[in-house]
Amino acid sequence: MKRHTILATAAFVLFAASPAGATDVESLMNDCNGCHGDGGVSQSSDVPTLAGLAEFVHVDALYIYQDEARPCADSDYRHGDTSRPATSMCAIAAKLSEDDIDAIAAAYAELEYVKATQEFDATLAAAGEALHNEHCDRCHSDAGTNAEDEAGMLGGQQMGYLRTSFEQYIDGSREQPKKMKEKMDLLSAEDAEALVHYYGSVQ
Ligand code: HEC
Ligand code: HEC
Repeated sequence: MKRHTILATAAFVLFAASPAGATDVESLMNDCNGCHGDGGVSQSSDVPTLAGLAEFVHVDALYIYQDEARPCADSDYRHGDTSRPATSMCAIAAKLSEDDIDAIAAAYAELEYVKATQEFDATLAAAGEALHNEHCDRCHSDAGTNAEDEAGMLGGQQMGYLRTSFEQYIDGSREQPKKMKEKMDLLSAEDAEALVHYYGSVQ
């Protein structure tokens, strides 16, 4: 084969392969969005928004669920066919291949992060902002909305999800980075609640 024919063939194979791959990711994401909301933007307080989450953090989270090394509550579907049986993030992650995980994480990272509109207490939020600036901003910049920090999304994240995450970090059922634990250990339950309201106030 002449060189340009080989290139053309390679291009054709790539082109032909990509729509099939894309459909797969799309159908996987449709399932995710049955709980995480259209476009990965959550409408439920206990479910985190996935749109705009850093690829690395997303991949890491799914492997941790595969290892069942993080609590994963049984959850009902919230959108689409809500008669689908309840399932958990551990069960969902167990069914994903490495390629699925890479493709899903890359696709959600491309989507725009949309902050949730939620009710918060302004006094608690002000106390939370001071705590955030003192202890958390170093790794969670821009009110915890900077995906490039590769540390999850906090500002505008669903408050119920954040509240549960703090409980799990504090009781040790969810592992946290060592340097973050040093900061988290300084917080009281009231401090954690103030932080939840601060992140909820970022809209
Ligand atoms: C049946 C509902 C449901 C479905 C379907 C679902 N999730 Fe979840 N997901 C949750 C809930 C609830 C949480 C909050 C933590 C927990 O309880 O496990 C969560 C948490 C997560 C987190 C943790 C976010 C973070 O910042 O650490 C990731 C990542 C995630 N889901 C990805 C996915 C992906 C990818 C899919 C599809 C392959 C999916 N989820 C399908 C309900 C669901
Ligand atoms: C030394 C850096 C560092 C500091 C300081 C730090 N964090 Fe983190 N944080 C991270 C990293 C990295 C992750 C992502 C890894 C993980 O989920 O275990 C993370 C994850 C989180 C998550 C989970 C996000 C999700 O999507 O589920 C929350 C909530 C959080 N941090 C809150 C805080 C708060 C509140 C403080 C201050 C009291 C703080 N962090 C201080 C590095 C840090």
